[in-house]
Amino acid sequence: MQLFLDTTDTAVLKDLAATGLVDGVTTNPTLIAKSGRPMAEVIAEICGLVEGPVSAEVAAMDVEGMLAEGRKLAAIATNVVVKVPLTRNGLIATSEFAVEGIQTNVTLCFSASQALLAAKAGASYISPFIGRLDDHGAVGMDLIGEIRAIYDNYGFDTEILAASIRTPAHVTAAALAGADCATIPPATFEALFKHPLTDKGLEQFMADWAKTGQSIL
Ligand code: G3P
Repeated sequence: MQLFLDTTDTAVLKDLAATGLVDGVTTNPTLIAKSGRPMAEVIAEICGLVEGPVSAEVAAMDVEGMLAEGRKLAAIATNVVVKVPLTRNGLIATSEFAVEGIQTNVTLCFSASQALLAAKAGASYISPFIGRLDDHGAVGMDLIGEIRAIYDNYGFDTEILAASIRTPAHVTAAALAGADCATIPPATFEALFKHPLTDKGLEQFMADWAKTGQSIL
């Protein structure tokens, strides 16, 4: 499973990328706004911090605008993936990007039928928003399983990128449901390392080791 960070905070990204466990980054207009920086600048910096895919989202709603913006974003760096919303125009643009060899991440996916259309349009990635479905009383994780089954039924190679992740349990459940990737807020990524029994066990190991008076070196 590929683990992406859902962030534009380059300081935090640099810190977590140093673990060697960050496979890519996703951004969206809200995260760009949060950065307070010009989009091209922050995307270029992110692309220099990770070798893997970096999603950068178009803002246009019409096909020609999406194509123009997507081509400009793709020109920033070879690892840019153009993010388009799951709308009629977004899927038309996705099909054209596929012809041009530009990688796409179709975002704001909330149903299996939407995901089916995205795969037919040639999307590189599909981003089902688990947390936002949960927020509306649905079971967001069910959508991952549905998309996995549909994509496997027809041999679609669009990668399922579990998004709108809220907890480490979401990451585990998405992996169990067969997602190819998960994009994770930094705080949740940090939480993946943690378990109270690990801390407790290590404390006991260190206390017992100290009693030996030994040194390994
Ligand atoms: O960036 C895509 C997605 O992960 C954002 O989800 O619900 O945290 O805004 P959310």
